Amino acid sequence: MEERKLNMPLSNLDGWKRTHNCNELGLSNVGQEVCLMGWVQYRRDHGGLIFIDLRDLQGLTQIVFAPEVNKQALEEAHVLRTEYVLAIKGVVRKRPEDMVNPNLVTGEIEVAVNEFKLLNTSKTPPFLIEDRVDVSENLRLKYRYLDLRRPKLAKNIILRSKAAQSVRNFLNESGFLEIETPVLTKSTPEGARDFLVPSRVNQGKFYALPQSPQLFKQLLMCAGFDRYYQIVKCFRDEDLRADRQPEFTQIDIEMSFVEEDDVMAMAEGLMARVFKDTLGVDLETPFPRMSYAQAIADYGLDKPDLRFGLTLKDVTDIVRGSEFRLFARAELVKALSVPEGAVLSRKEIDDLTDFVRIYGAQGLAWIKIKEDTWQSPIAKFLSQEERDGLTKALDLKPGDIVFFQAGPKEMVNTALGYLRLKLGERFGLIPEDTFSFVWITDFPLLEWDEDEKRWVARHHPFTSPQPGHLDKLKQDPASALARAYDLVLNGNEIGGGSIRIHSQEMQREMFNALGIDKEEAEEKFGFLLSALEYGAPPHGGIAFGLDRIIMLLCKAKSIRDVIAFPKTQKATCLLTDAPSRVTSRQLRELSIRLREKEAGKMGN
Ligand code: AMO
Repeated sequence: MEERKLNMPLSNLDGWKRTHNCNELGLSNVGQEVCLMGWVQYRRDHGGLIFIDLRDLQGLTQIVFAPEVNKQALEEAHVLRTEYVLAIKGVVRKRPEDMVNPNLVTGEIEVAVNEFKLLNTSKTPPFLIEDRVDVSENLRLKYRYLDLRRPKLAKNIILRSKAAQSVRNFLNESGFLEIETPVLTKSTPEGARDFLVPSRVNQGKFYALPQSPQLFKQLLMCAGFDRYYQIVKCFRDEDLRADRQPEFTQIDIEMSFVEEDDVMAMAEGLMARVFKDTLGVDLETPFPRMSYAQAIADYGLDKPDLRFGLTLKDVTDIVRGSEFRLFARAELVKALSVPEGAVLSRKEIDDLTDFVRIYGAQGLAWIKIKEDTWQSPIAKFLSQEERDGLTKALDLKPGDIVFFQAGPKEMVNTALGYLRLKLGERFGLIPEDTFSFVWITDFPLLEWDEDEKRWVARHHPFTSPQPGHLDKLKQDPASALARAYDLVLNGNEIGGGSIRIHSQEMQREMFNALGIDKEEAEEKFGFLLSALEYGAPPHGGIAFGLDRIIMLLCKAKSIRDVIAFPKTQKATCLLTDAPSRVTSRQLRELSIRLREKEAGKMGN
């Protein structure tokens, strides 16, 4: 990196005060003496004149060093480079007509510099501070403080602050109390691994960082704080994706003496307020609702993107007797037809086949409907009756393409569900500027955990079964439904909650159904069971993923773009180099010894 030599002393502010931000000045300020402070974005040296675009968080203002204003300042300005920090005093003047920049808020004026102070210099930054950077995300994360100077990213962070303020305003006005809960705590089961923190004072024991404040907010209900909220960090050690971080932020809410409709109405009001305050958008409420079963049937996923059609169709019965063995034997056969989709090339279909393999599919069957024939590797296996059945069920027309997935239910739905999203993108079916909210309701209470070979709570074990469904747990666990709801926006799960179990007896039965015996229940959740014995009110709540909501408000591709200091996909922080090694002394204090392999790496 180029070292810049400077033969000019750095200044202090010496009492100078900013009069304006760099996005504020216009024709109405012409003639005014102003003071601006910021960074050198660009410098253009025109021999006798130096122009600088001065940048602060809010925007850009052109400043000009001119000989008729201050000759010495012009001389000194030759040392200025990108990202140097300046304070300037000068007079606002109208730009000549041919110099007006219609793309800039301050494009009609410039500030002629009378006096300036060089507050700091800068090394040449590793990438340009502008929106169109063409460098790896890793480099941007390493120099996050420079990355955050880019207007696009800065805008996301500003919007995030506005959204958080809007959330607080709405909830405070609605009678909610903001209450903090512990970060060093006991494990809460939200389905992910815990991050553990060893205790020095209690050797051999560990705190868990909360996956959510779920149990504490329930205890707050038991304590009588009947409307609680918190904008809170949650920690989950799970596989990371574009919409998942190991530490993320929830808007966590709990209410007493409520049922599903009360929580949902409050949540709709909150969303409407946040969208109005941040984007000026009026949302239509109440949001539509769809049962989990319907979402899976039509969209394959429990977070359906309703901005476009292309629904899935169950064709199991039509191909039950097919010569195509895969179809005949499968637990479920579903089809996804794309009108005018036959334009897809072989290469594109191959790529889609690779894509569905991510979701456990073995392959991807397809048929292109031509004027007089069906073009497909599987067409020869399909009888006329099957063809007629498919044509009718899928309303097939020449030019269409149909994709099929056959096999275990979950794989078929997931693979086709994600394929649908991919095809929606490929054919430009997804409108960009629509916010499509939907509540998903009537979730199954339990789900089968293939790894652990047992039923686990789909939401969490504190979610109440629907009336009468506790009994179903014994005979047909899969059919028991929960009083749970998720809020989905444009195919993203942005929130989830439920009405809770508030009777100790039912909570015990629930633990029992989950294979958690009395001893384990007592050890892990004794404090909750005990609280439920002392007059716990009926209660329920919801938690929103704040990062995901901001991502959607900003039209960002990843939640990393709306978090000031995010972690990489590998859960590392490239800026601080966390997680990092610790000294053997630190480990000794905690009574922790690393296994030889890890210790070797540490050189301990
Ligand atoms: P749940 O586990 O559904 O519910 O989480 C609530 C919301 O948090 C967001 N979210 C995440 N965002 C970013 N990175 C992650 N790793 C991540 N995990 C979850 C999602 C999700 O909808 N205690 C319950 C809520 C309740 O029952 O009130 C809970 O935590 O947007």
